[in-house]
Amino acid sequence: MSFRAPKGTDDVLPPASRSWRRVLRAWDDWAERFGYELILNPVFEATEVFARGVGEDTEIVQKQMYTFRDKGGRSLTLRPEGTASVVRAYLQAGVTGALKVSYSGPMFRYEQPQAGRRRQFYQVGVEYVGVAAAAADAEVIEVGYRFLVDLRMPNLEVQVNSIGDPVCRPAYLELLRDYLDQQRDRLCEESLRRLESNPLRVLDCRVCAPRLEGAPSPVDFLCEPCAVHYEEVKERLEALDVPYRETPRLVRGLDYYTRTAFEYVATSLETAQNAVGGGGRYDGLAEVLGGPPVPGVGLAMGIDRIVLALGETAQPPALDLYVVVAAPELQAAAAGLVSELRRAGLRVDAEPEGRSVRAQFRAADRRGAAGVAVVGEEWQDGKVTVRDLQSGAQEIIAVEEVAAWARS
Ligand code: HAM
Repeated sequence: MSFRAPKGTDDVLPPASRSWRRVLRAWDDWAERFGYELILNPVFEATEVFARGVGEDTEIVQKQMYTFRDKGGRSLTLRPEGTASVVRAYLQAGVTGALKVSYSGPMFRYEQPQAGRRRQFYQVGVEYVGVAAAAADAEVIEVGYRFLVDLRMPNLEVQVNSIGDPVCRPAYLELLRDYLDQQRDRLCEESLRRLESNPLRVLDCRVCAPRLEGAPSPVDFLCEPCAVHYEEVKERLEALDVPYRETPRLVRGLDYYTRTAFEYVATSLETAQNAVGGGGRYDGLAEVLGGPPVPGVGLAMGIDRIVLALGETAQPPALDLYVVVAAPELQAAAAGLVSELRRAGLRVDAEPEGRSVRAQFRAADRRGAAGVAVVGEEWQDGKVTVRDLQSGAQEIIAVEEVAAWARS
């Protein structure tokens, strides 16, 4: 067979997928603990949802969308991110007031693929829609932080900034444009173009940003309400015991942000791909999508990058127990034991048909079992031999004790 997965996409097979399962479970757990319920959105939307929502002048919309016409002639786009869909769904369903939701799934961006930068990648995220208070910003930042700490993400830094709102941003952008205009000879072609249409994004250009040390930062030009909001977000983060670094040059690649912008950076990864997550407030997004003004704040985490940053080489056990059958006539009895242990909540597996005991032990190892129970000649006395695959310790115990043994 000569087919391969498309460029920039991945198959994640066991044992590598064990890390993924652990990370996705931890995410579900933290989102639920913080009161975020599940939302499911389509994987494609009318192209306009992203063109308007994410912003016509963003790199995502201009260069990275998987856009196609369906057989009915509609222009559809595979979602490059989740926030626009969530707000579209909020408006469509006529929700009023607060909605706290969590999502998880593949996103699509036509990127130049490299490690941690994929064309199909996996995000988890939360959106806290309908609440303008700074407490919501801090809570969203916290849920992401707790999740990453729980995963023991090494060299983690939470970077926060405020990029103002439509009241204070225009005056700042004018100043920034003036500054950038004087630095034209230091700007790349892309930034020269952005200078007119979206100067804030120039600060995010990997080539130009390091040369623009003297550029004004949005946080120094906030209007009073934005400044108060930012102070409150920081106070809340301190009260929640979330360490953060103020990062005045932090801007984001999507146009819907107002006020708070933040990123989770794993400083051990390559700088171009070291943002394992990010988010911010988007108080103008609902209106851009044709709805009434509805505030909101959210985050998304990049699971491909998180798994990369965790760099787990030793995978956790995938099974608590592997049941090895020593004689063909004990096959059915062993299957009964497997079923009973599974119903008791343990992760248990066995061979579907008889093979040598050696082959079964090899399978137990390959499948990542923590222990093995051998159904053999002791079975007639109601006993099995159990072996801890890590220490090699072996003993004969009563069948009724197997579940407790496997748990310990
Ligand atoms: P974003 O910063 O574009 O924000 O993406 C969030 C995270 O997704 C990034 O920090 C990164 O870890 C991961 N990511 C993005 N592109 C790729 C890629 N090509 N390959 C691998 N990982 C990638 C958003 O998407 C916003 N919707 C976040 C948000 C939610 N803002 C408010 N609510």
